[in-house]
Amino acid sequence: VEVNKLVVVKPEQEAEVDPGKEKVTIFFGTQTGTAEGFAKALAEEAKARYDKAIFKVVDLDDYAADDDEYEEKLRKEKIAFFMLATYGDGEPTDNAARFYKWFIEGNDRGIWLQNVKYGVFGLGNRQYEHFNKVAKQVDEKLFEQGANRLVPVGLGDDDQCIEDDFTAWREILWPELDKLLRGDDDAPAVSTPYTAAVPEYRVIFLDSADAVHEDKYSTMANGHAVHDIQHPCRANVAIRRELHTPASDRSCIHLELDISGTGLMYETGDHVGVFADNGTEIAEEAEKLLGYSPETFFSIHTDKEDGTPLSGSSLPPPFPSPITLRKALSHYADLLNPPRKAALVALAAHAFDPSEAERLRFLASPIGKDEYSQWVVANQRSLLEVMAEFPSAKPPLGVFFAAIAPRLQPRYYSISSSPRMAPTRIHVTCALVEGPTPTGRIHRGVCSSWMKNSVPSEESRDCSAAPIFVRTSNFKLPADSSIPIIMVGPGTGLAPFRGFLQERLALKEAGVELGPAILFFGCRNHRMDFIYEDELNNFVEQGVLSELIIAFSREGPTKEYVQHKMIDKASSLWEIISRGGYLYVCGDAKGMARDVHRTLHTIVQEQGSMESSPAEAMVKNLQTEGRYLRDVCF
Ligand code: 2AM
Repeated sequence: VEVNKLVVVKPEQEAEVDPGKEKVTIFFGTQTGTAEGFAKALAEEAKARYDKAIFKVVDLDDYAADDDEYEEKLRKEKIAFFMLATYGDGEPTDNAARFYKWFIEGNDRGIWLQNVKYGVFGLGNRQYEHFNKVAKQVDEKLFEQGANRLVPVGLGDDDQCIEDDFTAWREILWPELDKLLRGDDDAPAVSTPYTAAVPEYRVIFLDSADAVHEDKYSTMANGHAVHDIQHPCRANVAIRRELHTPASDRSCIHLELDISGTGLMYETGDHVGVFADNGTEIAEEAEKLLGYSPETFFSIHTDKEDGTPLSGSSLPPPFPSPITLRKALSHYADLLNPPRKAALVALAAHAFDPSEAERLRFLASPIGKDEYSQWVVANQRSLLEVMAEFPSAKPPLGVFFAAIAPRLQPRYYSISSSPRMAPTRIHVTCALVEGPTPTGRIHRGVCSSWMKNSVPSEESRDCSAAPIFVRTSNFKLPADSSIPIIMVGPGTGLAPFRGFLQERLALKEAGVELGPAILFFGCRNHRMDFIYEDELNNFVEQGVLSELIIAFSREGPTKEYVQHKMIDKASSLWEIISRGGYLYVCGDAKGMARDVHRTLHTIVQEQGSMESSPAEAMVKNLQTEGRYLRDVCF
């Protein structure tokens, strides 16, 4: 056997290698890795069940180079599964965006997928209006185009326990796959809950003198032409300002990130992804629970000493190392979210006290489902809080980083500046996330706390910095600036509109003719949280904002919200919309955006003298035309 020779096997050829085996493709559309993990877990378990088939896990982006190739390859699939996450306002993940656009929005291709049998499992959050939209749409479209649905679309809900949803979906999938793939000599099928083996990185402890740790991000700041989530660049905090007055008991920070010399570019309406760190206090707590000193210096690997991959491991590449434990915990470990069930199983495997191990396994088991929902999820028990309750569980670092603490994810913010006004700065408007949980812990959002406590370069040369990148959005001003616009953005929902207004000011100064613009802003009280008040008034004076309408929710005897103000203005809004204007909404999806959506429906119905369903159709139409755009989050 020539081990050094690289043999490139194309997927088609691979199938030909063993014509007796059925090929099953498992696609994933993943943002944070959960859908990818599910795809791999499905493949692993299916491999163990069926000898007659080979299972391939495929990133939708890597599947095909262009639309024609998608078509050509998908046509030839026999059995295909799709693990698809939905995020934001019903959008696909970045790696599924191209496929989704082609498959859902592309030409009508008639009935052409008769040879494909399929199943779709979605990863979403029921709190969002477009719950699992991507999975539902792909499922329907496959069916419409002739593919054979093996099982109903699985609707994983991250608001509850998505692992249980995945287990339940697999339970109904196996009998169907048995019919297709079960050989006579395969072992009888037994239903197993979703309990992947506890994965583990290989960790080597080093003397800190052994290696000098190169910071991944500082090296990337130089010379990397394109910055994305995998290649962020380091940006200093240039300015930090509190936007609320001292009378307010909350906090909202205006932050300016310096991107000069980084090559990073952005457009008005884009999002910035920020990798903040957990801070010293949280990292210290984790060190104590793990029983390691903060200076512990180690490297972390997915392969064995001889370079071969760890067996059965589908682990993502770990963070850059060698690294100190302090840094690994503060930069890379998600310590404040409730632990997933797989994390409890891994903790159980390393608990010395048998009763603790038993309780952890119970919480992760199907019969402990309600207890998990209550004790962990509803009580918002953080991973650290759970670990504190099970002091005998002392997992090794390789297990902790592979199976217990997920990778700390970047947080996204709508950029509140325009590059026409601030070409070397990205402005962020960030409300501090802080409040007591049911257990009495004070939960502090990782990134907003980091921003609040950051040190700007205008105050110190030893300023704060974070790895950042830009995510493009379709939340953009109309290409034709004379088209009228309506903006609705209470609280920090104002952020992108500050960018829009900066942009309009720059356009105006360049002699471009501007159409009317109305802004609905909402806050609690004039004295406390009327953020950017002077700037907004200035936009009015400069003629880039035609009307500034403010709802104060805690000033008068009754609550005034932006949607109430919209009703007051119903006839002007109707006129703008029916004249081809744009409507933008930004802010909290759960409450405000939902209520504003209903209000829009009411306005269309009443002003247009329509029945409910044509009004709904018109609102839908505005959305598909891209004239009703939403930038919403929780
Ligand atoms: P409240 O906190 O007094 O209820 C920015 O957060 C503003 O949005 C606040 O004035 C807040 O009011 C208001 N707000 C809260 N829920 C809302 C909803 N469902 N629709 C519109 N505005 C809302």
